[in-house]
Amino acid sequence: MNVLHMINRKKHGQALTEEEISSVVMGYTLGEIPDYQMSALLMAIYFQGMNEEETLALTRAMIHSGEEVTLEGISGYKVDKHSTGGVGDSTTLVLGPILAAMGLKLAKMSGRGLGHTGGTLDKLESIPGLSVDLTVEEIIEGTNAIGMVVVGQTADITPADKKMYALRDTTETVDSIPLIASSIMSKKLAIHNDALVLDVKVGDGAFMKDVAQGEELARTLVAIGSSFGRDTYALISSMEQPLGSRIGNSLEIIEAIEALKGNTDTALFQVVKTLATLLVKGKTGEDEGTIERRIHEVVASGAALKKFQEFVAFQGGSPQVVEDYSLLPQAAHSVEVPALKGGHVAKIPAEAVGNIARDLGAGRKTLDDELNLGAGIHILKRVGDAVAEGEALAVLYGDDPQALNTAVGEYQQLVEISGAAVEAAPMIHGVIHEQSR
Ligand code: URA
Repeated sequence: MNVLHMINRKKHGQALTEEEISSVVMGYTLGEIPDYQMSALLMAIYFQGMNEEETLALTRAMIHSGEEVTLEGISGYKVDKHSTGGVGDSTTLVLGPILAAMGLKLAKMSGRGLGHTGGTLDKLESIPGLSVDLTVEEIIEGTNAIGMVVVGQTADITPADKKMYALRDTTETVDSIPLIASSIMSKKLAIHNDALVLDVKVGDGAFMKDVAQGEELARTLVAIGSSFGRDTYALISSMEQPLGSRIGNSLEIIEAIEALKGNTDTALFQVVKTLATLLVKGKTGEDEGTIERRIHEVVASGAALKKFQEFVAFQGGSPQVVEDYSLLPQAAHSVEVPALKGGHVAKIPAEAVGNIARDLGAGRKTLDDELNLGAGIHILKRVGDAVAEGEALAVLYGDDPQALNTAVGEYQQLVEISGAAVEAAPMIHGVIHEQSR
């Protein structure tokens, strides 16, 4: 393998072969290729892109760098879901119990939050007693018995991606579609599910800032999935304003429980319903209207909420949180954010709101930071809502009164209020599915 030759060819826009890609990924994972050469190659890929064969070869090489999880022992239709990251996004915690109540199986490996985006594992750990560290046997037992578990990564999946992602993060080469797509799909395909749904976020709080970029990423993700024989669906959804109205760990547990109790007239539920419909349709072939009716039925009957309680109890958590939110961690103080003027809320920029929540203790600046699980933001007025001067736009939760004071001023500055009526942007921009090849 001649890495310099590869960098030079990619620099001039030529395609790399499968053998070259596989050996450079393996060489880098084993420490035989130095960071500076890999950085140069990644930057050349960033500018020149990769064709479909190269992107597939990169995905395959990253999968082969580590272990694969077969999920053998779990019976039924096994599904997985991935979000490209957002603010106030507790989708998994609503989607999982609904799918479980409809007979699908979700053994989900989730991650922690970093930066302005939250992580499902952190949210779940705000439930007293709940553990996200299950053995493989427990994952199989819980998924078979209940229909869902949510755990941290159990096997050493895609070590090449771990190393390359860290390098991309420090060399400004994250936002490249072939690199993002192969990174996400290698992790998802290393776990052998029957179907996969990807929630590709676009807008202020997302990697992809506009719908055209989001569509391109979604198409690339679906093409990779279907080439590997996985039924893959992608939803392109808006991350202009936070998805749910609560941002923060225990606050997002409350948001998810409220949705499962029937608070379904929300952007969060719309996204959940669309994701669930895609996966259920893949299994049953029913028409969308029938599936939507069934989704509402499992919520209205309490079946989905019961699944949530069973899954929480199986993982050692207290299922009583569903009835008593005071069992969840609480911040020491709360403060309302009064609107500086009357009108209609025109903009709640997701990334900046996520950063405020993070600064109140809901998120981390570095991987070692400790979270304040009760901290965060409850948005009372969403985009399009009318607000009077002095009326509360949101309630902020935190332990440090001074940080709360600062956050009130920041929130007032970043939320735009318009004199004219405002319509919220559509939540769903499109769906992409391709028959597996
Ligand atoms: N998420 C990933 O897992 N990888 C990327 O490259 C970007 C987002």
